[in-house]
Amino acid sequence: LPDGLALTPPMGFNNWNSTGCAIDEKMIRDTADLFVSTGLKDAGYEYVNVDDCWAAEKRDPLTGRLTHHPTRFPSGIKALADYVHSRGLKFGIYTSAGTETCARTMPGSLDHEEIDARTFADWGVDYLKYDNCHNQGRPALERYTAMRDALRATGRPIVYSLCEWGQNKPWEWGSDVGHLWRTTGDINDSWQSMLGLFKANAPLAGYAGPGRWNDPDMLEVGNGGMTDTEYRSHFSLWSIMAAPLLIGTDLRKATPRTLEILSNREVIAVDQDPLGIQARAVRGGNGQWVLTKPLAGGDIAVALFNESDRTATVGTTAAALGLPQRSGYVIRDLWRKQDSHTAGAISATLPAHATALYRIKKDADWRDTPPAAEAGLHLDSGAEGV
Ligand code: GLA
Repeated sequence: LPDGLALTPPMGFNNWNSTGCAIDEKMIRDTADLFVSTGLKDAGYEYVNVDDCWAAEKRDPLTGRLTHHPTRFPSGIKALADYVHSRGLKFGIYTSAGTETCARTMPGSLDHEEIDARTFADWGVDYLKYDNCHNQGRPALERYTAMRDALRATGRPIVYSLCEWGQNKPWEWGSDVGHLWRTTGDINDSWQSMLGLFKANAPLAGYAGPGRWNDPDMLEVGNGGMTDTEYRSHFSLWSIMAAPLLIGTDLRKATPRTLEILSNREVIAVDQDPLGIQARAVRGGNGQWVLTKPLAGGDIAVALFNESDRTATVGTTAAALGLPQRSGYVIRDLWRKQDSHTAGAISATLPAHATALYRIKKDADWRDTPPAAEAGLHLDSGAEGV
C-alpha cells in the first residue's frame, strides 16, 4: 500500500513457528524484553506479533467483539500491547478472512471487519496478519479489501499482512490492498521446505518494492531442523529477497549462534536497503545460484548459493553484474565480515547448502583501498584508519 508504512520489509517476531497454539502472554512479554536486552531491537527488529489462538472461543455476547483467551492472555490484549509499546516496540495480532481461524480455536473476521479493526485499533495494534482459512469460497480480493478499508477507517497506521498463501496470485493485486502478501504455503523447519519457498518466491522479484513485499513466510532460524549453514542460507536468501524478517524461534532458548545469525547487521542492511529492490537470480541452474540486489548508493549485494549436496564453486563476474569498469573491486563478505579484492571474478567454493553473501562497493577501486589482509588489519575489529 502506498501509504508510507512498511517502506522496508517488516522485521520482528511471531510465535507460530515455535509454539503453534501453545502461546501465552508471558512469552510475548519475555520476547519484548529480549528484543531490548539482546540488541535485536537495536539491530532493527520492531514488531512483536501474536499468531493464532489468542482469542476466546466466542465473541463477547454483549459487544460482538473478539476478546482475549482467558487462560493464555489473562491480562487482556490491550495490556499486552501497552507492555510491548513500553519497550519501544510495536505489537501485532492475527485473525482470518474467514468464519474461523486456521486452528479453529477462535472466530475469524469475515463479515466482522469493521468491529474487529476498531477493536484492534482501540487496543493499539500496529500490525495485522490476516489469514485465509474457512473463507466460504468467497473471492480473496473482496475479503482482503474489506479488511483494508476497515483498518483504514480506524485512522491508526497498521501494517497489513495478507496471509493468502499465493493461491490467487496476490502479488498481482496485493500492492493496492496490503503491505505484504504470502507467496507460498506454510514453511516448516526443514531444508526442503525452506528451499521450496525460496524457489517459489525468487521469480516474483518484479512485484516487490517499498510498501509492497513478497512474503515467503517467517523464519525458522534457530528451531533445530536445519544446520547453522542452512540457517545462514535461509537468512541470507530472505535478506537478499527483501523478505520480511520475522523471527520464528523462542528467543528464551536461543543459542548464541542463533542470535549471531539473526543479529548480523550487515546482512540485515541488505534486507532493509531503502531502495527496496528484491534480488534477481542471474543464474539458477545446476543447483548453483547467483542472486543480485542493487543497493542505495550504487553498491550491490550478491549471494552465491550452493543448493547441491556437495561442495561446489559458484561464481560470476563484476561485468556480468553490470558493475562499472574498475582495475579491481573491493568485496565485503557479510558473514566473515572481511574485505577482499578481485580483478573481476566473484566466486566462492561453498560447502553443501551454503551461501556466501557479499556487498560490492561501486566506488571503491581496490588500488585506492588496500585490503585488510595486506595491511595486516582486521576490518571487523574497528582498527584505526581502515
Ligand atoms: C496458517 C498460516 C500460518 C499460521 C497458521 C495459524 O496456516 O499460514 O502462518 O498463521 O495458519 O493457524
